[in-house]
Amino acid sequence: MTVQWHSIDTDSISKVYYRKEGDSNWLEKEGVFNAIEGTDQIVHVVELDELEPDADYEFRLEGKEGEHLFRTLPKSLTRPVKFVVGGDVYVSLSTMRKMNKQIASCDPDFVVVGGDIAYTIGRRTVYKGKNWEFNRWRDFLQEWKSQMVTPEGRMIPIVVVLGNHDIKPTALKQKSEHYIFYEVFAMQEKGVPYRVLDAGDYLSLFLLDSGHSFHIGGQQADWLEKTLFCRENVSYKMAAYHIAGYPSVYPYRGGGAKKIRSQWSPLFERYHLNVAFEHHNHAYKRTFPLKDGKIDPEGVIYMGDGSWGVSPRKPKKLWYLSKAAQTNAVCLVTLNAEKSSVEALNLKGEVIDSVTTLPTRSLVTWNMDRLMEW
Ligand SMILES: [Fe+2]
Repeated sequence: MTVQWHSIDTDSISKVYYRKEGDSNWLEKEGVFNAIEGTDQIVHVVELDELEPDADYEFRLEGKEGEHLFRTLPKSLTRPVKFVVGGDVYVSLSTMRKMNKQIASCDPDFVVVGGDIAYTIGRRTVYKGKNWEFNRWRDFLQEWKSQMVTPEGRMIPIVVVLGNHDIKPTALKQKSEHYIFYEVFAMQEKGVPYRVLDAGDYLSLFLLDSGHSFHIGGQQADWLEKTLFCRENVSYKMAAYHIAGYPSVYPYRGGGAKKIRSQWSPLFERYHLNVAFEHHNHAYKRTFPLKDGKIDPEGVIYMGDGSWGVSPRKPKKLWYLSKAAQTNAVCLVTLNAEKSSVEALNLKGEVIDSVTTLPTRSLVTWNMDRLMEW
């Protein structure tokens, strides 16, 4: 679990005190801090490791009031693991708040934010003053801190992917760690947003960069192929990224969409990805299972399309869309050993769509059964 917090730059101790709920002794861990360029703020980063799986921990921060709670993931699916995926978040404060409330009430283990988080790039200046970008990120994080708490009082961890409104378009050419996105969110490797989150042997979540800081092909696609290959037998494999390969609003022949379909989709298909979560379109969509550019029951489902806190757009009628709607939505994933579900929730928390997906082992058995029949 990575704990991050901000303070002014005179407060330069990064220490977390933590203990498993019920334990009497506090443990402590010291981390690092980084200044945010152009501001008087620093970000403290403390990574807590060797935590017990499926346990509640209390923690507090050096120099700050108050105690908080987090929960670790189980090592295997001994209980349902829930997470929410959604993107295109902080345009309308009131819409974001309504959706945040629904998400927190689902009691998820963590939430994946699929890019276009605080809309600080490529839009008009929202605040006056030279630090308006940072202030907007801070607003987003303050909302998260106050709202993304479960009914039991547990803080909900955030897992982010990069969108076009999070980083300057020049980031693709000029590599730098000094973008606010990379300052406020910890990555396994600073400045590299694509990565995989593994939970036991049951989930591998591929968090990809749809061409904002790294190209869709090249080094990232090579990494994706190798990383998927090593995880062939993981029960559930899912991906989350910003731009859509199968968009509901933007053009099917758009540059980013074509690259995703040519560079990533064949890998998703070969390694039986359960679901690819896409965003950026400001609508809700779920495709048919797709393989080789056609509807195929053994193909990959693409879901999402990014309408957390934005004005929803009208989706097109397209051959690959099984369901699409002009509505605010996020996806709630519930993983179980036997089978899992992905439900789309609207601002009222109503389930507007759902799909069931099976773990890899069942797929192999299912294919073997079919082979035997044949
Ligand atoms: Fe976007």
